[in-house]
Amino acid sequence: MDFKEHIRVIPDFPQEGISFKDITTLLQNGEAYKQSIDELRKLLKDLKIDVIAGPEARGFVVGAPLAYALGVGFVPIRKTGKLPYKTIQAEYALEYGKDILAMHVDAVQPGQNVLIADDLLATGGTIATCVDLIRQVGGNVVGAAFMIELQDLNGREKLPDIEVFTLTQYP
Ligand code: PRP
Repeated sequence: MDFKEHIRVIPDFPQEGISFKDITTLLQNGEAYKQSIDELRKLLKDLKIDVIAGPEARGFVVGAPLAYALGVGFVPIRKTGKLPYKTIQAEYALEYGKDILAMHVDAVQPGQNVLIADDLLATGGTIATCVDLIRQVGGNVVGAAFMIELQDLNGREKLPDIEVFTLTQYP
């Protein structure tokens, strides 16, 4: 399947110069959504994964179905102030703006193999922060999987020691 056919591109959102890749059109199509998750699962078949972590919000719609398909747990990494138990936190820069991500201190056990999942790899700041949080509690990041990669933003450079898997790429 050509996943690009199901991704809507919105120019100048949320600000001028940003070409927003809108996955809601893919998600609302049951066949396209299922195939995207199935295809990611195939790309990850050689990894040993104990748990999947995904950043709020779009990381949830990729990470959770992937976790279900693999029969492993899911760890939500959330924007600050949302998680009810003790958290560790890290600030990060976005393609536009900045934010703080938080994870429950006991969400990942030391030595667990963690795959990170998200809809989009742009500058890589979000996922580098997720890697940092997971490693702080002793997790072993075995890879990062995305529906979309924006290649010109060089996100992989922020993840030099992480194996990156992407379904579809834009310049
Ligand atoms: C978007 C996207 C990725 C991140 C990619 O999330 O879903 O998580 O930005 O950008 P980066 O590689 O430059 O860090 P956003 O923070 O907009 O949050 P949302 O999923 O809640 O919309």
